[in-house]
Amino acid sequence: MPAPSPGSAPPPPLAISTSGLVKSFGGTRAVDGVDLAVPAGTVYGVLGPNGAGKTTAVKILATLLRPDAGQARVFGHDVLREPDAVRSRVSLTGQYASVDEDLTGTENLVLLGRLLGHTRRAARARSERLLDAFGLTEAANRQVKKFSGGMRRRIDIAASILNTPDLLFLDEPTTGLDPRSRNQVWEIVRAVVAQGTTVLLTTQYLDEADQLAHRIAVIDHGRVIAEGTPGELKSSIGAGSVHVRLRDAAQRGEASRLLERLLGSPVRPAADPAGLSARVSGDGTARGAAEQAARALRELTAAGVRVDDFALGQPSLDEVFLALTDRTASDGPGRATDSTREPTS
Ligand SMILES: Nc1ncnc2c1ncn2[C@@H]1O[C@H](COP(=O)(O)OP(=O)(O)O)[C@@H](O)[C@H]1O
Ligand SMILES: [Mg+2]
Repeated sequence: MPAPSPGSAPPPPLAISTSGLVKSFGGTRAVDGVDLAVPAGTVYGVLGPNGAGKTTAVKILATLLRPDAGQARVFGHDVLREPDAVRSRVSLTGQYASVDEDLTGTENLVLLGRLLGHTRRAARARSERLLDAFGLTEAANRQVKKFSGGMRRRIDIAASILNTPDLLFLDEPTTGLDPRSRNQVWEIVRAVVAQGTTVLLTTQYLDEADQLAHRIAVIDHGRVIAEGTPGELKSSIGAGSVHVRLRDAAQRGEASRLLERLLGSPVRPAADPAGLSARVSGDGTARGAAEQAARALRELTAAGVRVDDFALGQPSLDEVFLALTDRTASDGPGRATDSTREPTS
């Protein structure tokens, strides 16, 4: 590799780059013109609801599906022209586990290690280390079909990093897991990245992307609707949000109208019938947001709305997601017209 010229930082090498990637199934554009640039050595989050096109994109990148249009490169290798070079550098887990249900944890890892060309001894040693690192030592001699959901997810990941891959695809690795198992998977992801592996993580969970990802692409209907660091995405929708609980749920309508006028942003009812929340933009600073929120509270009280609880917080990624999807819904352009979530009749 040529040395960078003095004074100019070399551009970060990209583990993944795509441009204009498209994949349709019948009338459904599952992936609808996706551009991604994933710096090597990072966790890159692809965040989107069920059906957004995450798995389809991952399958294209892992050379399991051919795109209809566009380009995708993995460490500079074109997925269509150099699939073997791509395959030699990636590993995939999540919705396509390669472990055998009838074998034990150890048997699976040793078998896969042997398939990857390790000697029996090396495969055993590696398997032991991985089972230990993943908290699966006790499950080593248990059949995988008797594993809990969390154990299963961990052995899937263990199997996919038997050979340390340069790029690991984790397709919704924590969907359906209890909080403790999720945390264990998160720790594993952090450990894998610390060893230099790039991770492309798809998730439906905003807090997961927030916790793990250096950058996030938010996708909906096969399109990237926002991209940035978690902090950038949060600040793109305002400085914070207020959460209000009223003494009397009957005043919620009135409080909503007032807040909407005072804050200039849509008010969302909470699950609690006396609860409301709304974004605060202020002048974009935390201080401006606090002042605007304080004014809103004064005016609510002055108007006779009884407030039990009033809190100003940073917007959650959940709110970011709602804000982004609202925007695309109301702006029209940029949204796929053949929406897969609308009734087709
Ligand atoms: N093999 C397939 N045949 C037909 N439609 C598919 C196929 N795979 C995915 N789709 C459709 O493409 C869209 C995106 O799916 P997918 O990539 O699995 O989304 P995600 O992983 O984000 O949940 C969905 O509408 C899904 O129903
Ligand atoms: Mg999926």
